[in-house]
Amino acid sequence: MLTIKRVTKSFGGVVAILNLDLEVSQGMIFGIIGPNGAGKTTLFNLVTGVLPASSGSIIFKGQEITKLKPYQINRMGVTRTFQNIRLFPAMTVLENVMMGQSRLINSGITSLIPYYARSKAKELKQEAEGLLEFLGIAEKKNWLVKELPYADQRRVEMARALSSHPDLLLLDEPTAGMNEEETAEITADIAKMRSAGRTILLIEHDMSVVMSISDRIAVINFGQKIAEGKPEEIQNDPLVLEAYLGREEEENVQPS
Ligand SMILES: Nc1ncnc2c1ncn2[C@@H]1O[C@H](COP(=O)(O)OP(=O)(O)OP(=O)(O)O)[C@@H](O)[C@H]1O
Ligand SMILES: [Mg+2]
Repeated sequence: MLTIKRVTKSFGGVVAILNLDLEVSQGMIFGIIGPNGAGKTTLFNLVTGVLPASSGSIIFKGQEITKLKPYQINRMGVTRTFQNIRLFPAMTVLENVMMGQSRLINSGITSLIPYYARSKAKELKQEAEGLLEFLGIAEKKNWLVKELPYADQRRVEMARALSSHPDLLLLDEPTAGMNEEETAEITADIAKMRSAGRTILLIEHDMSVVMSISDRIAVINFGQKIAEGKPEEIQNDPLVLEAYLGREEEENVQPS
């Protein structure tokens, strides 16, 4: 579904991603781990078209997307959430979710006919409510986002991402800053999204999360992939232990 071929991204002298290859198949949860500053978020920025790659190519559903604009890539079915939540805090939960539906709104001739426009709006609203139901926050649909607990704000972000019917969903540290209980809930939500047919690329600091739900994991260190495989293979990889797990134990690196 997504193929990344020898992609490099440098910012002036800083090489954030170097010759990266990645193959994500349909229907899987693909985990991306690595120390702070390894290049994980940069990878998401490249896949979503927010940043241009310095070299290499990115192919989604058989089509080259390397030079496409973010809105074009989004229309093809790629949506993300952000490491730092980006919602409209003074708007309601439902309004925020409906912001994600823009790629579905029919701008054709029928949208000029009030009957069709109204019934389409109603359909989209019902669908947004269904997503809130799916993530267990339907009863908070009229709350302002700023009044929600942190984990629920993450859920609103995920509902908004889902509202554009993505085939590929990119989640950037969805459990960052959460307590154990919230982390477990969000982990279950992610597994549920896969069951509903989404393919998921997941950046995650929490080892227990990434090991428990990923079908495959790639480890990035200083912009390069240093290991890839099933969770149990990654857990026992000496390079990974040295680069990531060891460092985390020694320095007690906190999620950013
Ligand atoms: N827009 C940018 N301009 C310049 N340098 C950048 C930019 N974005 C990222 N970088 C640099 O690229 C490197 C990788 O950053 P990135 O945010 O991708 O890391 P990360 O793996 O997501 O880290 P974290 O775990 O802290 O979120 C860092 O050295 C960072 O400073
Ligand atoms: Mg990051």
